[in-house]
Amino acid sequence: MIKIVITGSNGLLGQSLVNLLLKDKEKYAVFGFSRGKNRSGRNDFNFTSIDITKKDELQSKLHAIKPDFIVNTAAMTQVDACENNKEACDVLNVEVVKWITDVAANLNMHIIHISTDFIFDGIKGFYKETDIPNPLSYYGLSKLKSEEILQNSKVTFTILRTILVYGKVFDMSRTNIVLWVKQMLEEGKEITVVNDQYRMPTYVEDLALACKLVIDNKVQGVFNISSDTLLSILDIAHQIAETFHLDKKLIKPISTSELNQTAIRPPKTGFDLTKSKSILNFKPSPFKEDLQRFKETLI
Ligand SMILES: NC(=O)c1ccc[n+]([C@@H]2O[C@H](COP(=O)([O-])OP(=O)(O)OC[C@H]3O[C@@H](n4cnc5c(N)ncnc54)[C@H](OP(=O)(O)O)[C@@H]3O)[C@@H](O)[C@H]2O)c1
Repeated sequence: MIKIVITGSNGLLGQSLVNLLLKDKEKYAVFGFSRGKNRSGRNDFNFTSIDITKKDELQSKLHAIKPDFIVNTAAMTQVDACENNKEACDVLNVEVVKWITDVAANLNMHIIHISTDFIFDGIKGFYKETDIPNPLSYYGLSKLKSEEILQNSKVTFTILRTILVYGKVFDMSRTNIVLWVKQMLEEGKEITVVNDQYRMPTYVEDLALACKLVIDNKVQGVFNISSDTLLSILDIAHQIAETFHLDKKLIKPISTSELNQTAIRPPKTGFDLTKSKSILNFKPSPFKEDLQRFKETLI
């Protein structure tokens, strides 16, 4: 059995990965770590209610389990919240990674850490794993610092960088681009969507599959994980409306300068996926196809 701890097992990626791994209970022993109660809607795995910013508790639980892998999905993911609360962002997004790395150094535990396109400034776009980061936001900076902790350590690790993740799991603490656009348009509400920021959205099931590929093949290093389509967020909203047969006219464009967001967003990210396709055997697809697959799970 491969023992796997998933931090943030109540989150979007966390729940998706729990569900994916539990399809093979003979092979994977899954341990979920998350705040509050288990919100995955299933109790056929080992769940620990834990605030992972409590260092001693986190480290002693890991020492007791001695996992083969830890997938660190827990993070402060709201970009403006990180800008407004830098200390809390530092603890969860940076310090926790250091504490996990310290445990891994003693336990021979492989760390799979989730990072972001926001480590880049969004000028060049189509980033390779080797491109030089230049974060514009505190969130991006915190994620870059977490990557550097792993890069400068001697532990076995894999960093999966991803972009604008969407999907649906049992009980969600926050929404995402696809569910938000779908819900607002279904309710006949007008929405404003930014037309000068470009992303390659990622279906959470594909990101979970990438985590499983890393576990199965023990692949190390940094990998980009997203769909293969770079679109403006406005075009993303239009494609969501088309897929779910909703009224596109309710979507009104707005520019970044009019939006007045607290944290600065990179204008154009997107990934070069060559490395993850060839080494990880990751198979990205166009956003429109991913959306269709997602739609079929909702029926
Ligand atoms: N979502 C995106 O668009 C995106 C894009 C690029 C990268 N990423 C990265 O991908 C990873 C997964 O993102 P996600 O969308 O799955 O995030 P998410 O849905 O917000 O899940 C994170 C989970 O971690 C839990 N958590 C937060 N603080 C905790 C603590 N102190 N102790 C224990 N658990 C804690 C949260 O609990 P509560 O539910 O109780 O809050 C939540 O369930 C993150 O590392 C994120 O930075 C995400």
